[in-house]
Amino acid sequence: MTKMSFTLQINGAPKAVDVDGDTTLLWVIRDVLGMTGTKFGCGAALCGACTVHSPPAPVSRRSTASGRPRSRP
Ligand code: FES
Repeated sequence: MTKMSFTLQINGAPKAVDVDGDTTLLWVIRDVLGMTGTKFGCGAALCGACTVHSPPAPVSRRSTASGRPRSRP
């Protein structure tokens, strides 16, 4: 998979990351940035534990670094 470099704004602070393009937002936040407040729950998009709030709308953990939905859980 192709690596992607980008910067996220998290809680008002810029966070630079370099990850595979199919890495979900959840794992970028938890594993790459070490911010474990975002949880992995059901793994099936049912419980909402992995939801990240990105105004104006929440973002599912299934969103990948490339912005495309991930094809597998
Ligand atoms: S882990 Fe349950 S909705 Fe994401």
